[in-house]
Amino acid sequence: MEKTLVLVKPDGVNKGLCGEIIGRFEKRGLKIAGLKMLQMSRELAQRHYGEHEGKPFFNGLVNFITSGPLVAIVVQGENAVPVVRAMMGATNPVDSAPGTIRGDFALTIDSNIIHGSDSAASAEREIGIFFTAGEIYNR
Ligand code: CMP
Repeated sequence: MEKTLVLVKPDGVNKGLCGEIIGRFEKRGLKIAGLKMLQMSRELAQRHYGEHEGKPFFNGLVNFITSGPLVAIVVQGENAVPVVRAMMGATNPVDSAPGTIRGDFALTIDSNIIHGSDSAASAEREIGIFFTAGEIYNR
């Protein structure tokens, strides 16, 4: 069954949205296969967001994602990657449809509540940054 990595970013944790977000995935029928809270180091953030290195927003993104604890979740289910992306809404909350997580809870692109892997290959790489094999429970 497909797995994807979700991060409830520090702004989502601060706003008390972890339960709401996890509940939406569970009610949709997706399973939680791994879950932890951590504060990312700059080194970990640079690894996770390596594809954005050199972009104008990169330093701000690293500052933001390391600013406080986040919740990392392995979400599992049929087509988990595209289903989670659809539930999150567009990266820029200006374009996120109401009913999506960003469309309901976020206003700006640099503070957009949630991250989800954009492909199965990214999911595999990103899950490996946050979780060991023994921390994932196939459901
Ligand atoms: P995320 O899905 O976590 O992946 C990269 C993040 O960079 C993205 O969500 C945004 O929060 C952040 N970001 C900030 N500025 C931009 C931008 N101009 N374009 C794309 N992503 C941006």
